[in-house]
Amino acid sequence: MRWHIDVLGEGSFRDTPALQLLLVTAGRLGTIGDGAFAGLVLLEYLFIEDNDVGTIAPTALRGLRGLLYLSLANNRLETLPRGLFQGLETLTQLDLRGNPFQCDCRLRWLVAWLSSAAPAAEAGRCRGPPTRAGTPLAQLQPRDFDCLVSELRPFQSLPFASLAAEPFALGGHPGVALAQPFAGACALLEWDQLAGRFRAPTIINGSSPVACHPLQLGGALVVVVAQLGGGSAVWRRAGGPGSRFVRLQALGNGRLRRPHAVASARLGGHWYLGVADSSKGGTSTLFRWGGRGFYPHQALRPWHRDTHLEFLELGGRPALVVCSGTRRPLVYRWSGAAFAPHTDIPHVPDVYAAKHFRLRGHVFLCLTRFLGDAKVMRWEGSMFREVQQVPARGSMVFQPLSLAGQRYVILGNDYAPSRVYRLGPGGHLEPTQELLAPAPRAFAPISLGHRHFLVAASFKGATQIYRHVTVDLGA
Ligand SMILES: *[C@@H]1O[C@H](CO)[C@@H](O)[C@H](O)[C@H]1NC(C)=O
Repeated sequence: MRWHIDVLGEGSFRDTPALQLLLVTAGRLGTIGDGAFAGLVLLEYLFIEDNDVGTIAPTALRGLRGLLYLSLANNRLETLPRGLFQGLETLTQLDLRGNPFQCDCRLRWLVAWLSSAAPAAEAGRCRGPPTRAGTPLAQLQPRDFDCLVSELRPFQSLPFASLAAEPFALGGHPGVALAQPFAGACALLEWDQLAGRFRAPTIINGSSPVACHPLQLGGALVVVVAQLGGGSAVWRRAGGPGSRFVRLQALGNGRLRRPHAVASARLGGHWYLGVADSSKGGTSTLFRWGGRGFYPHQALRPWHRDTHLEFLELGGRPALVVCSGTRRPLVYRWSGAAFAPHTDIPHVPDVYAAKHFRLRGHVFLCLTRFLGDAKVMRWEGSMFREVQQVPARGSMVFQPLSLAGQRYVILGNDYAPSRVYRLGPGGHLEPTQELLAPAPRAFAPISLGHRHFLVAASFKGATQIYRHVTVDLGA
């Protein structure tokens, strides 16, 4: 029997239930729709060959309860929908040769099916992607497919602007401290179990905090509040989570004129605090914890309008990178008692901040510049050398961080969307997505069990929280 068929759709063969062999060849079928062979319960051999078939509905083959042999050879199929062969329990032979298959995540199910319970199959070769062109499908394994993609999705916005967001963990509880200069407050981000959302209650009222730096001292949460007016101070939580904060000391005896950033590190068994001072005649200062408070330990070079301090380790020794508005970033090394200037970072003027990350034994530094592109440098034993340049549009934050076990670097932009980069195995940044947080000043990760979030402190809008989600493209 021969038919001339242009479209195979539901019920095309309703009146021929006794058919055992069906040959549809050398036509221009194009599409095979849902239930195209419904009713052909006795069909054993089905050939749809040389038919320009480009799409098949996932349920196109349903009802073929007795099918032994199926050929879809020499069509235009780039992919096959998951579940296409479901219910074909009697199938013993399958021919898929001569199709321009794109062996990407959409075909992972087929590869898995072919390598497990499938009938004898001639599956043909991949036409693409380029790395797989010409590879027989039968040679692929499901594990050859990397189908997990992650993205940050808007989750919540908090109704205030913030300038700094710093993560901490205390007794297994993660948190983020937020500095709200306009509201004059430090807030702690916490998860509201009942509401299924975050809240950010004020923990300290101040005047105009530019940093609320959390650290754990003797089992208690301490927050260093650096302010433009009203003086900077150290606060300590009186008891466990939820208890109030009490003021421990004023910091710097009024000598901190225009604090800009706060960092801390444990060196040789002591806690040190660095405060960058960006006033014209100001001096960035290193403080040491003395049991009841932080006491001045070392004044860094004055007159440089410092904007950022970064503690790190270079060649197994503590180091400090100081960024300032008037000179190149300066790298200090720890002598055991103080930091001594060691080298500067050449060829990169106007660095606003430097943040480091470690990868495979190497130390990398992410340099943010408000004017000019952001840069990634690598420590080469005696100096930092540029390894990558990233386009920036008014950037004040370039933050490396880990989220859900993955490494990222996030570049905030004032005059363009911010960009998320995934950190490749060699330390190369690969762009993955954009974020729309307005005027971002800090990014901080926070994880609650298996849920992972990113907090974006925004200077000109609401503080944004994104949820990190992983999607399996092969599912
Ligand atoms: C901060 O100030 C507000 C308004 O005066 C007050 O309601 C709140 O209790 C204060 N919070 C703290 C932690 O002191």
